[in-house]
Amino acid sequence: MKLNRNDECWCGSGKKYKKCHIDMDLKLEEMEKVGYEIPPRNIIKTPEQIEGMRKSAKITTGILDLVEEKIKEGMSTEEIDILVYNYTIEHGGIPADLNYDGYPKSVCVSRNDIVCHGIPNKEEKLLNGDIVNVDVSTILDGYYSDASRMYLIGEVSEEAQRLVRVSKECLYKGIEAVKPYNTLGDMANAIQSHAEANGYSVVVEFGGHGIGLGFHEDPFVPHVGKPGEGMVMVPGMTFTIEPMINQGAPDIAILDDEWTVVTDDGSLTAQWEHTVLVTETGVEILT
Ligand code: MF3
Ligand code: CO
Repeated sequence: MKLNRNDECWCGSGKKYKKCHIDMDLKLEEMEKVGYEIPPRNIIKTPEQIEGMRKSAKITTGILDLVEEKIKEGMSTEEIDILVYNYTIEHGGIPADLNYDGYPKSVCVSRNDIVCHGIPNKEEKLLNGDIVNVDVSTILDGYYSDASRMYLIGEVSEEAQRLVRVSKECLYKGIEAVKPYNTLGDMANAIQSHAEANGYSVVVEFGGHGIGLGFHEDPFVPHVGKPGEGMVMVPGMTFTIEPMINQGAPDIAILDDEWTVVTDDGSLTAQWEHTVLVTETGVEILT
């Protein structure tokens, strides 16, 4: 079922193949021959789908901005959950976390040594000196977006501030490595190198993920790896990058609630996340 140059392109654009994805397909064919992992066509988003994701991302970003305004010492993590739920519903969305695989809340709030998936609750208060990740995921009209930021509560130690800063740099180093025909391993290596050059480690077990029509789509997006490894990136792919950077060892443990992920050695950890789109020339951050 090889397409001819004058056939309609497989992507649904209505354009002729020769004016649409033919150059990409030829390039990928060559890369596959020399051993690269090629993306399946069904993870490439259409312009309409990307527009839907942009609108969803607007809510996610709006929430992270709202949290920035409201977050303060003494607040419970549950209060953040309520902010997220209300904002999402008022803007016509649904919190993607809520009831996802039985997850009981609308957002993940992960303090200090919590790597990810901290469950908001009334008892847990934000304390002076905490570093806190708030991870927001939204569904709007069936389209998903996902992003997280770190917040500093009161006076935070120099060491913790450095971890928060470097983990943000790691995310942006990863994003800078996103462009057509680079691989996910190129991206992961940029993150890992920057973390390790600063004396930190990168969590291996959790990664980013394809996203768009579902919450966690293919591919798995690693944050550690070697250049040239992993899936080749092509225009129209959408995925998250969300490195978890530990002050100590990379090892993690999962608490009895079966959600909360902590550093095994109790050291601090930090994470930033964006949803990104691979474009013809590079990358666009959607969130
Ligand atoms: N937002 C997380 C991510 O970045 C996923 C959270 S799933 C939940 O992929 F169920 F814990 F909310
Ligand atoms: Co994510």
